[in-house]
Amino acid sequence: MEKLVIEGGIPLTGTIRIHGSKNAALPILAACILVDGKHTVDNVPDLLDIKVMIEILNAIGCKANHQDGSVILDTSSIYSHHIPEDLMKQMRSSIFMMGPLLARFGQVQVYQPGGCAIGERKIDLHLKGLKSLGATIEETNNTIICRAKKLIGGNIHLDFPSVGATENILMAAVLAEGETTIHQAAKEPEIVDLQNFLNALGAKITGAGTDTIHIVGVKQLTPCQYRIIPDRIVAGTLMIATAVTGGNVELTSTCPQHLESLIHVLKKADVQITLKNDIINITSIGRPKSLDRIVTSPYPAFPTDLQSQIMVLLSLSDGITTIKEKIFEQRFKHVDELKKMGADIQVNNNIAYVRGVPRLYGASVKATDLRAGAALVVAGLAGKGTTIIEHIHHIDRGYVNIESIFNQLGANITRCVESPVSR
Ligand code: UD1
Repeated sequence: MEKLVIEGGIPLTGTIRIHGSKNAALPILAACILVDGKHTVDNVPDLLDIKVMIEILNAIGCKANHQDGSVILDTSSIYSHHIPEDLMKQMRSSIFMMGPLLARFGQVQVYQPGGCAIGERKIDLHLKGLKSLGATIEETNNTIICRAKKLIGGNIHLDFPSVGATENILMAAVLAEGETTIHQAAKEPEIVDLQNFLNALGAKITGAGTDTIHIVGVKQLTPCQYRIIPDRIVAGTLMIATAVTGGNVELTSTCPQHLESLIHVLKKADVQITLKNDIINITSIGRPKSLDRIVTSPYPAFPTDLQSQIMVLLSLSDGITTIKEKIFEQRFKHVDELKKMGADIQVNNNIAYVRGVPRLYGASVKATDLRAGAALVVAGLAGKGTTIIEHIHHIDRGYVNIESIFNQLGANITRCVESPVSR
């Protein structure tokens, strides 16, 4: 089992380019199934979840390869509509196979997907949306079989603006007969990226980025070359890490408009941020200011995927801040680990009360999920002494070689296979 060993207390400095977005790339790779032919998807990050998606695509007969940041994907030899259960269990995004396979072949067999253990993570909204387009759904134990001779456009009202359900329904509706409207759709930038990709294939979609998406079904699509947007959560993690280490970092290839809620919060905490085109510059001197409260909510509000990282910054602030987690019910698993590093945090249901301390200290901790793991890296960079993080396979799902990212900015992080020598 691999571990990260971090020597903390070094201010991050330098310039780094932000890699492509995992959460945009995953549905876009699945959406390639909608059309027969050879696609090129550029700026795809070399991550564990992307590897699993490529394995899934190859398991149904696609020929997919990831090289030098691009995925070349030929979908003309698909022979199966059944996703192997072991691959379904490896990540939540395996569920993205449902909409496109159903739309293209009229049937799909999947299983309950796996993914980070951060809450119940149901798929009822995905299924309800596909049913509204005319699919029949058989659910037995873990198995889900969807069939539709023909998908027919309709009016779909999501009870909650689920990112994944919006994406699955969008992918299914592009080839449906007639028009579909998704009400209370998710507005995340990754949905806009999916719309742009589908429209580049020849789909007729408007409204992504607002809460009403309108799709006019088309009969045929054509393969294309497409470039994935930058990863806003990786950019956000680096911004927070710069702030907590008292550093000065320039991020290039970013979309600052995707990070407005974080930029607002960081500025209020007294972190200096300047923006120029796709460049974000972060400078931090002195202790961050505490804030009144932070509430995670669907985009454009503060993202749940940056909640654990911002908690590290607030743990080092000059006062008390409350953080309310409104998206996932079990997303405070990093709290116990941060406490081992000296953080002063109390949790009551979905609210964390964070009392800033002057310093965090290195400790042995465990990553419990992807973003919780990222927060521990951020805390380790800020902390005094050595931090050892176990279970880092979670972190590798969302950050391409996280130690190399931070070491390019002057950090001292080593990936070890064996137990590191005690220091
Ligand atoms: C996506 C992101 C994830 C991010 C999350 C919220 C990807 C690959 N992952 O996950 O990083 O943390 O958005 O921004 O893009 N829900 C239901 N029924 C459903 C679907 C969702 O009740 O059918 C609930 C979930 O349990 C959760 C909430 O809705 O409480 C949000 O989930 P959703 O927006 O669907 O997140 P994901 O698409 O899984």
